[in-house]
Amino acid sequence: MKERLTLIAIYPGSFDPLTNGHLDVIERGRKIFDRLVVGILKNPHKQPLFTSEERKTMIEEAVKPFSNVEVEIFDGLLVNFARERGCQVILRGLRAISDYEYETQIALINRKMAPEIETLFLPTSAEFSYLNSTIVKEIASFGGCIRGLVPPAVEKKLRDKFDRGNLSNF
Ligand code: PNS
Repeated sequence: MKERLTLIAIYPGSFDPLTNGHLDVIERGRKIFDRLVVGILKNPHKQPLFTSEERKTMIEEAVKPFSNVEVEIFDGLLVNFARERGCQVILRGLRAISDYEYETQIALINRKMAPEIETLFLPTSAEFSYLNSTIVKEIASFGGCIRGLVPPAVEKKLRDKFDRGNLSNF
């Protein structure tokens, strides 16, 4: 009998910081694939609120219960990193129709560069369809309640960051 290929997906993003919307995609994605690599982009063109190491630590804390999820930092082209890690699939969450155009463009460019890697879109759960990292940072910066929008470790880190008066980076 032919052995089934180990299916590995990469879930890439900025994750500045991880939200419960991202976590929803990770939780559901890890059930579809044998392994799921969460790839944090270290983007030299952007000034994030959290360093890539801080983002990695927060995600690692949130995915601790999931044995088939690993977290890595990458720079450069996503498809190169996906190839290095042996990923056959790029997983992206779709929140709304408005995401579709941008996501399709990225998927097509990535397919042009790496035709052997497929992009799969997972619709986010309806309860997280309004959520993104920028909104969460804005609420936290003005002292609003972010409970339920991000994992507890991220909530604490955001509080620490903004309590120390870091209001500039988003
Ligand atoms: O969370 P984001 O910021 O929407 O994620 C965007 C991301 C990281 C998936 C995308 O910017 C990316 O893959 N960047 C790496 C550079 C690259 O491969 N660019 C070509 C396709 S856009």
